[in-house]
Amino acid sequence: MADIQVAGPSPYIVRIDRGLDEQVAQRISETGTRQALIVHQGPLKEAAESLRQRVEELGVHVTLAPIPDAEDGKSLAVAGQLWDTLGERNFSRQDVVVGLGGGATTDLAGFIAATWMRGIKVVQVPTTLLAMVDAAVGGKTGINTGAGKNLVGSFHEPDSVFIDLDRLDTLPEAEFVSGSAEIIKTGFIADPVILDIYQQGGSVPTEKIAELIERSVAVKASVVAQDLKESSLREILNYGHTLGHAIEKREDYRWRHGNAVAVGMMFVAILARNRGLIDDAVVELHREILDGIGLPTSYESGAFDELYEGMTHDKKNRNGQIRFVVLDGIGSTTRIGDAGMEELRTAYTELSQ
Ligand code: GLY
Repeated sequence: MADIQVAGPSPYIVRIDRGLDEQVAQRISETGTRQALIVHQGPLKEAAESLRQRVEELGVHVTLAPIPDAEDGKSLAVAGQLWDTLGERNFSRQDVVVGLGGGATTDLAGFIAATWMRGIKVVQVPTTLLAMVDAAVGGKTGINTGAGKNLVGSFHEPDSVFIDLDRLDTLPEAEFVSGSAEIIKTGFIADPVILDIYQQGGSVPTEKIAELIERSVAVKASVVAQDLKESSLREILNYGHTLGHAIEKREDYRWRHGNAVAVGMMFVAILARNRGLIDDAVVELHREILDGIGLPTSYESGAFDELYEGMTHDKKNRNGQIRFVVLDGIGSTTRIGDAGMEELRTAYTELSQ
């Protein structure tokens, strides 16, 4: 069992363990709430029902709010339905929203909590590896609109986060691989021990998965504690995401997030090597680790112009220039904010070979 404290204006605990339902229920009841809204993906009905029973045993009334799977749940229409439900049930400032599901669910639940009466508590219970190590921790919440993904949102720190490792037992392999990309990302930007574990080859043993999650959350906790609103340091959590987001957009969000980020990390590794910030061995380490667990490290050769256009909309950009988080060593980051189109095309050509 591990508790990771996330410091900041509203500190909170990320608990990593197995069989956490009872503790989630306990925490909800301890907040002093009269009622809770459990926002969950449709297929998690049984898990939501079982959590509801435990919470109601402690005298807190629960409303279940099933939402469509994945990104479809993060829409204005679904948010509107949830606000209506909160209104019908007379949710007050003392009441609680719970996010039970993958990253889209925890983002949406966080956004609903952030906006209802200008902010009520949200308890996050991530069920995918990606949500455990990234989405549910750090207070970024949001929905997708016609203008793009996550352009409407708010920084709203959770009351608490419960990472129940039991939930990984039934997670599809492809989801597990995608989530691993975010863990590997934290290894490259801040914790090389993570890379050592992946370098041992083969599938990661179960006891090591707990350690990987703990290390990855610890990196995120430390970063967001210093820069919740991403004025500078938090950008490092976007390692690999600049091209990654452009690939997701080009693929109409049918690619898994982690897979797109894996390609994006390869790209910025090549970019940094071409600038002399890192050497070939670090680029090869990216390939070895990402390939090793089945993540993609290359992308279509004819796609550069479209991806370039996509990258010009990245939220990190400043003064019309695309800004990349890159490594200047393993576990050490800097930024490239002045790369010209031809420099990017050269790196992309190598990526796509
Ligand atoms: N997923 C990146 C961040 O939370 O800042």
